[in-house]
Amino acid sequence: MKQHSRALLVTGGAGYIGSHMLAELHRTGWQSIVLDRVSAKQAPAARFAAHWYSGEVGDETLLQHIFSSHAIAGVLHFAAHIQVAESVAKPGDYYANNVAQTLQLLRSMAQHGVSPLIFSSTAAVYGIPNTPLIAEDHPIQPINPYGRGKAMAEQMLADFHAAHGLRFGCLRYFNAAGADIANGLGECHEPETHLIPLVLRVASGRAPHITLFGQDYPTPDGSCIRDYIHVKDLASAHLRLLEYLLAGGEDAHFNLGTGHGHSVRAVVETARSVTHHPIPAEWQPRRAGDPPQLVADATRAHTILGWQPQHSDLTTIIRDAWAWEQHLASRS
Ligand code: UFG
Repeated sequence: MKQHSRALLVTGGAGYIGSHMLAELHRTGWQSIVLDRVSAKQAPAARFAAHWYSGEVGDETLLQHIFSSHAIAGVLHFAAHIQVAESVAKPGDYYANNVAQTLQLLRSMAQHGVSPLIFSSTAAVYGIPNTPLIAEDHPIQPINPYGRGKAMAEQMLADFHAAHGLRFGCLRYFNAAGADIANGLGECHEPETHLIPLVLRVASGRAPHITLFGQDYPTPDGSCIRDYIHVKDLASAHLRLLEYLLAGGEDAHFNLGTGHGHSVRAVVETARSVTHHPIPAEWQPRRAGDPPQLVADATRAHTILGWQPQHSDLTTIIRDAWAWEQHLASRS
């Protein structure tokens, strides 16, 4: 059997999901070569990387250097801007960072014959879904520049596959949450916009109350429903996909979620019970662009990759995120 190199290029290794991936790759004996605009000194997961390049994913000269200095068995591309509202206000930044830089990465991979690419995509490519459970063959109809940029990048992958034989897998994440306390890793967005970390900031005393958006949605309790997936389960899915592609598996798109939705009210209630804090909430009108319900049909990832979430029941997610929030609060 052909032996692959154990070195992988990981873009965005300083980010939330990328840093958890570095820990998982280290644990399973892979060597991570990281490319991130954040330096190793500022990255909590740098200790899990074999090499760290600070720079831009779209830097052709740097990519040339990386691909000629290391025998790269595959690329995991996490680096991206991730805020929907910001993408509406600054589409140029989103297309430059998430589309143009990805294009250069693909061109350099094709030029150096590097494959496969595992691409971090998103449920945002589905826009306002037509069905309660979303499968991968649901139409791609993004409603903001963030989702459109990710959909464009997915299209570029398909075109590079057709023209240059570049192998790829797209992972469409639903709502990533949770933390890996044993490895000192967790969510650290600035500014933070996600529900779970913001709710827990109230419980730790770092915020006075949580603002909740919209209680008049067509859902059983009137609040939005999301499919929360533990970041450790996301990391394990990448590993499964990598092994599948390296073994000759077909290029494909996979939803990563649990198949179970939780309402905003249920998240707050669970956080109250985990933290034993009343977590005062203030209701506001709907936030622009929020679909009422986003829940994954992840059957394809189960059947093709043999992946099953292990840590993604809501209480476990919130318990882990709470341990991380307490860590952050103790440092502030
Ligand atoms: N919410 C609040 N208050 C807050 C923050 C969020 O009520 O302070 C609500 C939102 O309105 C939404 C739910 O909590 O109903 C979840 O919101 P998040 O911001 O945590 O997550 P989103 O579902 O908006 O976003 C996620 C990913 C995005 C991705 C999107 C796909 O984080 O990257 O799913 O639509 F684009």
